[in-house]
Amino acid sequence: MNYEHMEFKDVLKYLGDRVGIDTGSIKITKKNTKYDKLYKAYNLSLKYYQNNLNSSFGKLAKDYLLKRKIDEKIIKEFEIGLSLDKRDDLTKLLQAKEYDLVTLNRIGLSSDDHDVYSNRIMFPLYDTNGRVVGFSGRIYKDKDQSKYVNTKETDIFKKGELLYHYHIAREECRKSSSVIVMEGFMDVIRASTIGIKNTVALMGTALTNEQINLLKRLSNNIILCLDGDDPGQNATLKIGNILLEQGIETKVIKLPNPDDPDTYILNNGKERFTGLIDSAINFSDYKFQRLKENVDFRSDEETANYINEVLKETAKIEDPIRVEVVLKRLAKEFNIGYNTLEMRINSYIKEKPKKEKEFIPQKKTTRKDKYTKAYEQIIYFMLNNDWVITQVEKERIIFPTEVMRELCSEISYYYKKYGNINIADFYTYIQDRENILILLNNILADSYMEKTTKDELFLYFSVTREYCEKQEIKRLTNLMKKEMDPIEQAKIVEKIRKLRLGDN
Ligand code: UTP
Ligand code: MN
Repeated sequence: MNYEHMEFKDVLKYLGDRVGIDTGSIKITKKNTKYDKLYKAYNLSLKYYQNNLNSSFGKLAKDYLLKRKIDEKIIKEFEIGLSLDKRDDLTKLLQAKEYDLVTLNRIGLSSDDHDVYSNRIMFPLYDTNGRVVGFSGRIYKDKDQSKYVNTKETDIFKKGELLYHYHIAREECRKSSSVIVMEGFMDVIRASTIGIKNTVALMGTALTNEQINLLKRLSNNIILCLDGDDPGQNATLKIGNILLEQGIETKVIKLPNPDDPDTYILNNGKERFTGLIDSAINFSDYKFQRLKENVDFRSDEETANYINEVLKETAKIEDPIRVEVVLKRLAKEFNIGYNTLEMRINSYIKEKPKKEKEFIPQKKTTRKDKYTKAYEQIIYFMLNNDWVITQVEKERIIFPTEVMRELCSEISYYYKKYGNINIADFYTYIQDRENILILLNNILADSYMEKTTKDELFLYFSVTREYCEKQEIKRLTNLMKKEMDPIEQAKIVEKIRKLRLGDN
């Protein structure tokens, strides 16, 4: 339940489906929760709004939707409805179902003795379990009102605690190993029509911690695809930075100004949009691009400034291998010594803790070194890609600690026994192995990438080899210190020298 963010009955069905057991007939005696009545009111409203759209009163709204290329199928799938210009129809209907006015006012469906919504196209908003907990109503003929009106916050509807489309995206993100974040639910709906469903919408709020946690649950590979206009690009920067501070580097799709995903897909089609997804760039590269925009590279001062800014941003990247890649690129592009850049970036990395000096009573994970990161990343790749398990064995990657070796051999064993790896199941499988579990929790809590290519994987492998060589040099150096015979000593020195040569 915790891992998948699901309710008991949903987990039961999910697991049943996977092993081919029909759980539909299992009776779960569920106590009435205190919000049942609230959910029910929202469900009744949903039905009422849907009926309206299909009635003769809905003609104009339907025309509007069809003109926007929202056809019957989408209307049905996203349960789109319509509120009428009738003041108190819904209020009356709910009163007849034994809801009193005080309750209806409290739960945001009535205002005094009339309906909250009139003359708006109604988009239901869902919680993480897919229950309708609110609405967003869009104008479709009056132009002089606010575009969308949302349900007020209630016990079951907290805008900052949900992401539009989360309940559908959950399964889709698993399949595609990524989640695409958009601004509006119209964008998500449009993407869905071309078969892209691993999407969620923020719905115009600043990103909250709860939403960040939800995003992390969906996938470690977060792709920002906000509007192409200035506010959208500024939001991209803001959200990307918030996530980066948490150790998550997102990817970015930059749409042409002033497109949003909805209009982009309408005008350019599925192929072009999937092309954009495939060529999404790393958030830091996105920032470098933006930094570059107004620099006059004929000026030495501006160039130096630019390089410094890039280094400051690079200092925030957690993956040491990516840092190396950026530095190498910079060194080449501007013909500067790699060491100079490295020294400068180290000064930025060291500056960092100062900012966080204030006493924050929360457990801080220590910054892991390059090698730990590389080894843990490889383990995380193994958990997400069967083929990596085979590669690790084939390339005889040796892990530095006993507990890492145990975890890897359990992963291999599990994979051979069951033919695939499912993290939630594997997690359960090693429940009683305390040491391994601590390590696994630690890896899962960090933000490693899920997917990789063979080339990239081999980059990580080369880091592990570098580590092994370092260890071997350490061992030999100790050995040499203890060695009395000068001839033997010289032999060891020669060995160390050879290793060092192979190092570069
Ligand atoms: P947008 O203005 O980008 O919406 O706001 P959109 O998706 O392009 O909508 P259309 O295409 O004009 O119909 C993004 C999100 O911000 C929230 C909504 O949740 C919307 O999906 N919003 C926007 C509001 O809550 N109120 C508003 O008045 C406008
Ligand atoms: Mn739009």
